[in-house]
Amino acid sequence: MSQDEEVSIQLEKPSFIHLTQAGVSLVLSTTRGALEVVHWGKALSKTENLADLMAATVESTAHAELDQPHVEGIFREAARGVVSRPALLGHRLGKDFSQLFEITGVQADETSARISFSDRVAHLNAAAMFSFVGHGVLMVSLEVENLGDDFNLEELSVYLPLPDRAQESMDFAGRWIKERQPQRREIQAGQFVREVREGRSSHDYTILQLAMTQGAGFRAGEIWSMGLMFSGNSRHVVEKLQGGRKFIGASELLMPGEIILKKGEKYMTPGVAAIYSDSGIDGVSERSYGWLRSRGDHPTKAKPRPLTLNVWEAVYFDHNLEKLSKLADVAKEIGVERFVLDDGWFGSRRDDTKGLGDWVVSPEVWPQGLGPLIEKVKANGMEFGLWFEGEMVNPDSDLYRAHPDWVLGAGGRVPPLGRRQLVLDLTNEDCYQHVFQQTDKVLSDYDIAYIKWDHNKYLVEPGSMGVAAAHNQTNAIYRMFTELKLNHPGLEIESCSSGGGRIDLGMAIMADRFWTSDCNDALERQYIQRYTQVAIPPEMLGSHIGPTKSHTTGRVHELHFRAISALFGHAGLEWDITTCTKEELSQLKTWSEYYKANRDLIHSGNPVRVDSPDEYFLQGVVSQDKSKALFSYATLQAAAGSRPDALCFPGLDATKSYRIRAVYPAGEPKFIQRTQVAWLDGITLTGRALAEVGVRAPILYPENALLIEIEAI
Ligand code: GLA
Repeated sequence: MSQDEEVSIQLEKPSFIHLTQAGVSLVLSTTRGALEVVHWGKALSKTENLADLMAATVESTAHAELDQPHVEGIFREAARGVVSRPALLGHRLGKDFSQLFEITGVQADETSARISFSDRVAHLNAAAMFSFVGHGVLMVSLEVENLGDDFNLEELSVYLPLPDRAQESMDFAGRWIKERQPQRREIQAGQFVREVREGRSSHDYTILQLAMTQGAGFRAGEIWSMGLMFSGNSRHVVEKLQGGRKFIGASELLMPGEIILKKGEKYMTPGVAAIYSDSGIDGVSERSYGWLRSRGDHPTKAKPRPLTLNVWEAVYFDHNLEKLSKLADVAKEIGVERFVLDDGWFGSRRDDTKGLGDWVVSPEVWPQGLGPLIEKVKANGMEFGLWFEGEMVNPDSDLYRAHPDWVLGAGGRVPPLGRRQLVLDLTNEDCYQHVFQQTDKVLSDYDIAYIKWDHNKYLVEPGSMGVAAAHNQTNAIYRMFTELKLNHPGLEIESCSSGGGRIDLGMAIMADRFWTSDCNDALERQYIQRYTQVAIPPEMLGSHIGPTKSHTTGRVHELHFRAISALFGHAGLEWDITTCTKEELSQLKTWSEYYKANRDLIHSGNPVRVDSPDEYFLQGVVSQDKSKALFSYATLQAAAGSRPDALCFPGLDATKSYRIRAVYPAGEPKFIQRTQVAWLDGITLTGRALAEVGVRAPILYPENALLIEIEAI
């Protein structure tokens, strides 16, 4: 909200604020002393009588409760008789443990509002900020300011009410190589909490937590979702209170003593993105994509997402100019546009036991520096990318030998190692500067377009100077990315954390790409990408064709299945392509051309995921103007029926005529049938017929895929 647009509303009773954007409304009331959210959901008319709306929502008072009607204000103060978890938990050596915030000011315009509060007894000021940031995405944050002696802040959470018809919740859980698997349940009494205490967002992080109407799916039903704009510890909650009302909430999870506000200091919560949809989960994604794509430096604004080769699974730590040059030659032949040198180029890093922390090109493996490889890569028409893991150190490194005190820890203990590494204390300015300077020097010495920034160990008792430091460490990595980008305009940063361990909405506005998972098995990727894409658009999610036999599962997949699975993201390869057969190379070439011809559609369209039985996924992307669509039909297991379901395509323009056909940019799937379906070479149907009648699926082997093009004629 700019100063000019600000309208100060004089507080008079009744007083309401109605913010709306893109079919979503937020109605706030200050009439009962507290700030209450009267409605968050489908847009209400601007002419709605808000006083009557408020009257409509006042509940009766139950026996065995307090004498006056229940008021669940945004701070949920116990002083108002609220017994749910307060939004603000904190104290001053035990005092001022309970607050009562009086509203002191309201500023609002069409899409945003800031409400100020004060508790003169507890010596605290506070503020609540609500802002529609585009596409109906509501950003909410709370702030508290200490006016007295040290105030120990334990929690500051944003809660929004859910309507009673929100009966189920869905969130995403996972682990290394199996990130973001959906879990769904009825919203029952109590709190269902997803906490992360890893000091990073985690493989187990939900990105968005969803509350939904019963049976809501990808294309239908109402969803109220929330996700924290933060990459550290977090807490997401869906709850049903004793009174029957339900809420969804999110906050940074603060470690004990982590935020002690001195007099005059403030803490502001990370933004909480609240996304409502009346058209199922795809509606949430559409809003989330629209909002993330509106970022000024969203990666597709600079140029199309370059087809990438990452050499990790091709060579691992075996860095050798000759082999890497061969890879660069084959990459050129295929049409790769970005060549990424992964772990192993620096210090004594010949395996994963040593060298982390020493970001100096290793003369042992790179006697002439990285220059010869970079020249080769550039001569072959590709950009060069390089791997870093700046927040980490191996005890067996020059850095650790010189500064063993530069690691996060507590009690004078060295925390347990993970992948033989420890986490550097980036809240220590000297340590931060060391990492920044070394990284900056490599980026200055060489022409590097992109860095993959890894984070392979979660934080264990992350203390600095004796106090918890996960909060400051998270802000330090944001600072690092910001400063590296400032010094190297155009630098693209990929957030990796043993695969998808640091994918969150906070990082989605700092980084340009995520390494979605260390699992390149196409079957696993079907699931991981489908659910990571609930919040994150495909152009930000690295998806590579892995080796024929997956290095993380041992499964063997046909090239076409791996290629179609990798197409719906920021595509690339992670495979020793010098071992490819002639046929594989020619298929990779046609696939690479296909990716380039269709990436604008994939990276700008709206997602469509058809609700289907577990046997298959039918999903794809429809252009904003609905003139083009690309779908993948992937068989995940052997079907129960001998003849498969019809493929129906929602999301198109019902009145337009479309040509639908199957395409094979990386070879045909394996059909297991006696006769073929009749439309694969192309037929013409209206959007309505494609949605309502669909086309019959051919019978494919399990773990195969068919790519389907739909174009308006
Ligand atoms: C992590 C990443 C991988 C690779 C290795 C390198 O596991 O997720 O992609 O970069 O580190 O050590």
